[in-house]
Amino acid sequence: MSDSHVNPAIASGSTESTSIAVWADRLNKTYRTGFWLNRKVESLKDCSIAVPAGETFGLLGPNGAGKTTLLKILLGLVQPTSGRATILGRSIGDQGVRQQVGYLPENPYFYDYLTGWEFLGLMAQLFEIPRSQRSQRILQLLEWVGLSVKSAKGKQMRQYSKGMLQRVGMAQALIGNPEVIFLDEPMSGLDPLGRYQMREIILALKAQGKTIFFNSHILNDVEAIAIAWRFWHRASCCVPERSMSCWEDRRATG
Ligand SMILES: Nc1ncnc2c1ncn2[C@@H]1O[C@H](COP(=O)(O)OP(=O)(O)OP(=O)(O)O)[C@@H](O)[C@H]1O
Ligand SMILES: [Mg+2]
Repeated sequence: MSDSHVNPAIASGSTESTSIAVWADRLNKTYRTGFWLNRKVESLKDCSIAVPAGETFGLLGPNGAGKTTLLKILLGLVQPTSGRATILGRSIGDQGVRQQVGYLPENPYFYDYLTGWEFLGLMAQLFEIPRSQRSQRILQLLEWVGLSVKSAKGKQMRQYSKGMLQRVGMAQALIGNPEVIFLDEPMSGLDPLGRYQMREIILALKAQGKTIFFNSHILNDVEAIAIAWRFWHRASCCVPERSMSCWEDRRATG
């Protein structure tokens, strides 16, 4: 791998650098829209970010700020217009790193005609979990995310509620025991118990030393879960903020 694809801090070999799990340097994304593709939407502007390994990082921002776009770029699902990024020191899209990343999309779309159990079985296969361990792993995850085995086995996912899909989504994000977990609005669509359970799952992952990067609109969730968080104005990243007082300052100054 060439140095151009490596977080410069990692390339330098410093001890601090090895702990950067998610790194982005001046990422930009401009979409072209309209019939002639002549209209530009600046979704991300000069976004730089460095999340240390083991940190729970919350990105808080209004609708349309570019939070999902950033996640999709980091996951290699969307190509940035310019800029660079690494996950665990390897370039985004690197095959080796994909096995170490979990992702809960904002609007999970799964195979409607599969049951949750079948879908998770498929995901377990993709993550190369040995056949003998698959059922055990799925049972463990279902219990964790609060989805009954009866629903998981007995219903196709087109019959699931939004909250049930969110729970299956969380289970599939964790199936490969990833080191870095990206969650796009993890509380979305969940009832109060579901929100509590989701918060507990994230806190348990945090206790295991996983790196968690999540998007949210909800200040309370970010405050309760994240070690560090950042409030994001439209399309451009602010300087990282680490405490409530920074948030207060930022609010006070607009
Ligand atoms: N495929 C696309 N084509 C054109 N514009 C897009 C596309 N995807 C996103 N955008 C635009 O980029 C901007 C950022 O969108 P994004 O979904 O990243 O925001 P967000 O912060 O995740 O919002 P929300 O909180 O509503 O989920 C918006 O103006 C959106 O309309
Ligand atoms: Mg979004």
